[in-house]
Amino acid sequence: MGRVIVVDDKVALYRDLAQQLGGLIGDERDAIANAANTAALLFTSLPDLNWAGFYFLRSPEELVLGPFQGKPACVRIAVGRGACGTAVERRQSMLVEDVHAFVDHIACDAASRSELVVPLIRDRRILGVIDLDSPLLARFDLDDQRGIEAIAAIYVKATADP
Ligand code: SME
Repeated sequence: MGRVIVVDDKVALYRDLAQQLGGLIGDERDAIANAANTAALLFTSLPDLNWAGFYFLRSPEELVLGPFQGKPACVRIAVGRGACGTAVERRQSMLVEDVHAFVDHIACDAASRSELVVPLIRDRRILGVIDLDSPLLARFDLDDQRGIEAIAAIYVKATADP
């Protein structure tokens, strides 16, 4: 009997992505190269995204744009501003179902309707964030959050400081 594999199970999808990312990174420690491949993997594997990428904390006050896929984006985001800066300030993931309802949202692409931001944390130090944008309302749920948190953990563990 033939076996049909349908990846409608997000947990399985993220498990698969985590495995693929481990393979892509291998022994590489370079922060930019690993971020570039992580962004490319996420953007080409997850449906309904219009942006996937990194911002790095370059000073205690400011995030700076890192490798990404999608339209050109804002270069600098102050800590505490926007979904990305808020994730750094609160040291927690931000699941924004409707960016129009998020008071301090920074619109890099007017097409974005929902967003997921996950901080990159090493030994309580924030290195930056992974940011995903979608043109669909409420595109991301807790399974996505946990999946991207696992991806962020793989990136941080494998990679030197950016
Ligand atoms: N929307 C983000 C800014 C980054 S772009 O979406 C790529 C924010 O509110 O922080």
